[in-house]
Amino acid sequence: MIVPGSSSQLLAAALAEETGRPLATPTYDRFPDGETLAAVPDFAGDEATIVAATDSDAAWVELLQLQDAVREAGAERVTTVVPYMGYARQDESFGDGEPVSARAMARAISTGTDRVVLVNPHEPGVADFYDAPAETVDAAGALAEPLPGDLAEPLFLAPDEGAVGIAQTVRDAYGAGETDYFEKHRDRETGAVAVSPSDAPVSGRDVVVVDDIVATGSTMSESVAVLTERGAGRVLAACVHPMLAANAVTKLRGAGVDRIVGSDTIERGCSVVSVAPVLADALE
Ligand code: R5P
Repeated sequence: MIVPGSSSQLLAAALAEETGRPLATPTYDRFPDGETLAAVPDFAGDEATIVAATDSDAAWVELLQLQDAVREAGAERVTTVVPYMGYARQDESFGDGEPVSARAMARAISTGTDRVVLVNPHEPGVADFYDAPAETVDAAGALAEPLPGDLAEPLFLAPDEGAVGIAQTVRDAYGAGETDYFEKHRDRETGAVAVSPSDAPVSGRDVVVVDDIVATGSTMSESVAVLTERGAGRVLAACVHPMLAANAVTKLRGAGVDRIVGSDTIERGCSVVSVAPVLADALE
């Protein structure tokens, strides 16, 4: 049975359809003191696949409760799909006394599952933090599907070197174009981002900026603004995880983005592609 977290209901339903497995209807309640209570009253069977993006602190608690609820209801085997793993960018201790938050979260999830499947975690190495067997799937190729078929001399650009791999994946899935990347510097105090353009000529070309996540939108909007200033044609933003926190969307619009394309690992208005087919293959 596929068991959705409250923020992954569309993806879980799509995955149920892809796999032919039944879809549970959990309840998500909250007590007056703020504590959450996620339950799966209609759970049946001995196998559960929980699908829950951990895009908020409440979602983490809910996921742990769903794991416990299905065990309580008789599940002997539990698979936990984390379409978007929050805290994955805190994959090391960046300062004195700071935690490795990704490791703490991974350990907590591991206690209630037999298997973990992650979609494009920010650092693939976070899979090693899990005590349960954990694997990662790459869903970036799906981002090519909604791109216009008539991109002019397309350039698939990563806003930093770390995103070059997924930019190449999207280019390969699109079937045409070049790849390149910017150098990025982020001020840790202010969060402000500056990018150093590559030498690639962009004048008149359509550019797809590809990243794993758009969080505050600083990285993407700075990249879009630089490309627009340099005379690029259409500039599109593509990401696996459209977190789009705070004023990310308006920053991107202000920078001149033509279109924002994201997947349903985090369900937003721009989640125009589903990672369900890739997950269904992984779960076979
Ligand atoms: C960083 O290395 C990531 O790939 C993203 O570029 C970054 O997390 C995006 O964050 P923001 O949208 O806040 O600039």
